[in-house]
Amino acid sequence: MNILVAGGAGYIGSHAVRRLLKGNHKVTVLDNLSKGYLAAIESAAFELNNKPRFVQGDIADENLVTQVLMEDQIEAVLHFSAFIEVGESIDNPEKYYQNNLMGSFALLKAMKNAEVQKLVFSSTAAVYGNPTSIPLSENNACLPINPYGKSKLMVEWIIDDYCKAYNLGYAILRYFNVAGATPEGVIGEAHDPESHLIPRILLAAAGQSESISIFGTDYPTVDGTCIRDYIHVEDLIEGHLLALKKIQPGQGSIYNLGSESGFSVRQVINACIKITGKPITVLEQARRPGDPATLIASSAKIREELGWKRRFPELEKIVLHAWNWHQRKTTFPGKSAG
Ligand code: UFG
Repeated sequence: MNILVAGGAGYIGSHAVRRLLKGNHKVTVLDNLSKGYLAAIESAAFELNNKPRFVQGDIADENLVTQVLMEDQIEAVLHFSAFIEVGESIDNPEKYYQNNLMGSFALLKAMKNAEVQKLVFSSTAAVYGNPTSIPLSENNACLPINPYGKSKLMVEWIIDDYCKAYNLGYAILRYFNVAGATPEGVIGEAHDPESHLIPRILLAAAGQSESISIFGTDYPTVDGTCIRDYIHVEDLIEGHLLALKKIQPGQGSIYNLGSESGFSVRQVINACIKITGKPITVLEQARRPGDPATLIASSAKIREELGWKRRFPELEKIVLHAWNWHQRKTTFPGKSAG
């Protein structure tokens, strides 16, 4: 297929690019490089004969996107172009509604202009807000508690309306906590600034930061720290490929993508100490605003409907691949390649 990957220079987008190239798809990457890295796209094609076309541009540029979709005869869009930080979205909601909502709306308009009828949209567990029951299934009420989650939910609604009115086919994938890297270590996670738990612990293990802070030790959980559902980025991308295959114009589905098991912040820190063999200084701090105590997915729907299976269910494998990448990334041109 001819596929446009919006946000293909970012952490998750670059992993999708690599898998699509390996599957012999013709890939066009659209990215404004506000968060992603050119080196991530180059590295995504590492040792592959199949190379992507790169267009530097913004999803909000409806004319540009329409032109690219038509020129490259795009049949499907994978949309990873979003800001993802909950705390930042509370302080600066305009940034989130501008990009995540308005940008996605422009992308949808461009898809309609160019008659592209298949979309895989990266959504988030943040659309659920504080869960009323665990594990979270797709039928749980969506009551987001921050602008990030709200911006994603609004786009979900618009996509569904485009499906009903204009025959768009879609898969909406609600991610839980994505982590890890390609097993061969060519691309991985490198946000700037880094806010996610596993890469922050690994920075401390590598001596690139002094310590890791635990945000909140008084939650109603096994050890007082927040519980999250960590899913390997490669398994997450497998979910995208399965969902893409099933999309039909005029039909839409929503799937959770999580590992269906939860680990506390302390358990994740201990796994990192074990895998890296490094001492890590741990500080206990106050709660971070907007953090639910526990988030664990039910991914039964995608398992049962699409036959999704995880290759890397173990937290230690996720940490190992992230650590392999972390140690290697400083040797890449431009340093940050994911
Ligand atoms: N945490 C710490 N110390 C840190 C960083 C994080 O204790 O230095 C804690 C957080 O408070 C939270 C847990 O580790 O309890 C995980 O935090 P992350 O920032 O890694 O991830 P989030 O759960 O906040 O959010 C991630 C994505 C969101 C997505 C959400 C869905 O960033 O985009 O998962 O579960 F919506």
